[in-house]
Amino acid sequence: MYSTKLAGVNLDDVFIIASGVVPDVPEYTERICNEYRPSAITTKTLTLNPLKPHDAPTLIKLGDGCYMNAIGLGNHGINSLKPSKCKLFVSVGGSSKEEIVKVSHEAERLATIIEINLSSPNRRSFGADMASQVKEIVKDVRGSVTKPVFVKLGPWDNVLELAGKALDGGADGLTLINTLKGMRIDVESRKPLLSYGTGGISGKCIHPLAVRIIHDVFKEYSTEIIGVGGVFTLYDAIEFLEVGAKVVGLGTLIIEQGFGALLSLRDEFESFLVEKGLKLSDLIGSAVRK
Ligand SMILES: Cc1cc2nc3c(=O)[nH]c(=O)nc-3n(C[C@H](O)[C@H](O)[C@H](O)COP(=O)(O)O)c2cc1C
Repeated sequence: MYSTKLAGVNLDDVFIIASGVVPDVPEYTERICNEYRPSAITTKTLTLNPLKPHDAPTLIKLGDGCYMNAIGLGNHGINSLKPSKCKLFVSVGGSSKEEIVKVSHEAERLATIIEINLSSPNRRSFGADMASQVKEIVKDVRGSVTKPVFVKLGPWDNVLELAGKALDGGADGLTLINTLKGMRIDVESRKPLLSYGTGGISGKCIHPLAVRIIHDVFKEYSTEIIGVGGVFTLYDAIEFLEVGAKVVGLGTLIIEQGFGALLSLRDEFESFLVEKGLKLSDLIGSAVRK
């Protein structure tokens, strides 16, 4: 069994659970932790106070392995966070810099890594709407916590510029990418299929977008990257590592196929390394020409 390191943190393997997959219910988190032993679980994005999810429908299928959701960062608030036997990457959010700093401070006690969500497209004034303040937010969070700080960014045209600002602010690494904002209309009722109107597209259909963005950001900054976006197969995961991700987050795959998919990928990846006689370090960034 190989192990790896992310921002100085030892991880048993490269696969982690992405934010939004495990509900913010401590008993559920522990069951997943005990049964599947993920090297880390990223929590749902937690805010200072509980937020109600948007009304149903909040998740629709667009195609094979491809979905659109608008849960709207519904969560039980940072006080619902409980200790876990697993490493927790605590995703934090808020609608002001001050709120994000406060939540990060509260999260720090139980977090292995703090992941600031500046990219969810699904609630006004939160997530992506806070991205323009990325440098100031990271600087203030960095100043108030000692744990590694990652910033989660979205698939935008200016992602390279925002990645640079996050790193200038003192981020230890980046999580790339969040969902892509989309919309579907019911042609009979002429209303959007999701109650919020728009939603975040995830799964197989955003994988090439994620590969390109991880590639470009790694090429520019050589930073630590958690790659997330449409990983369904062993080769999807290897692609992420080869363009510079150190760790691979699983989201829609688990929503569609369950946590057993994590076990399969982990086994397949270990066999791949053994069969090819490769070390993990042979892969990371190997497809990026500097
Ligand atoms: C139902 C659902 C809920 C999500 N909730 C969050 C969230 O609370 N915070 C966050 O940063 N990302 C959230 N995401 C985004 C995922 O963590 C991930 O970045 C995105 O779905 C792309 O990866 P995937 O294609 O493997 O799902 C959510 C995604 C889905 C599908």
